[in-house]
Amino acid sequence: MEELIRLSSQLHLIFIGLLGVLIAFNLYLLNSDKTFLKLSKRLELIAPQYYIVLSAIFFTGIIIMAIRQFHFSLSVAVMIIVWIGIVALGIRGHKIYKSMERTEISQKAYKQYAIKKYTLDLLGLCATSLLFYMGH
Ligand code: HEM
Repeated sequence: MEELIRLSSQLHLIFIGLLGVLIAFNLYLLNSDKTFLKLSKRLELIAPQYYIVLSAIFFTGIIIMAIRQFHFSLSVAVMIIVWIGIVALGIRGHKIYKSMERTEISQKAYKQYAIKKYTLDLLGLCATSLLFYMGH
């Protein structure tokens, strides 16, 4: 059983690292000098991977929780809240993206939102991990 927890924890951590890499890549693209058309194509290409990795984080987290008979702690509650927050910001971003007009102002507003969203995602990721390791 301990071996299964260790393996799931390792996978949980690998996917958290992967999400960090994807956030960094999104931020790099958003801060580059690409035309909006090129930028949006690249962002659309990464988006599915982002949500696959997020699901993998949830899935591995649920496995660890199930093995521990759904024992709850403050850091796990924070992880779930941060995870829901990341998904909610993503849904809002998608709505803004879909309702965006073809004007420069509208595109700039979307870019600003996306930069804020990914920065918040990164902060959430770091703060949650820090909270966990400070408590252990
Ligand atoms: C983006 C959000 C998340 C982050 C940044 C995060 C981060 C972490 C980290 C750094 C660990 C420590 C791993 C280790 O060293 O073994 C951990 C463990 C864990 N995570 Fe997450 N996690 C997130 C989402 C979730 C979700 C959604 C769940 C549940 C559905 C979850 C459940 C757990 C559990 C049960 C543990 C083991 C806790 C313990 O050993 O006391 N996590 N997580």
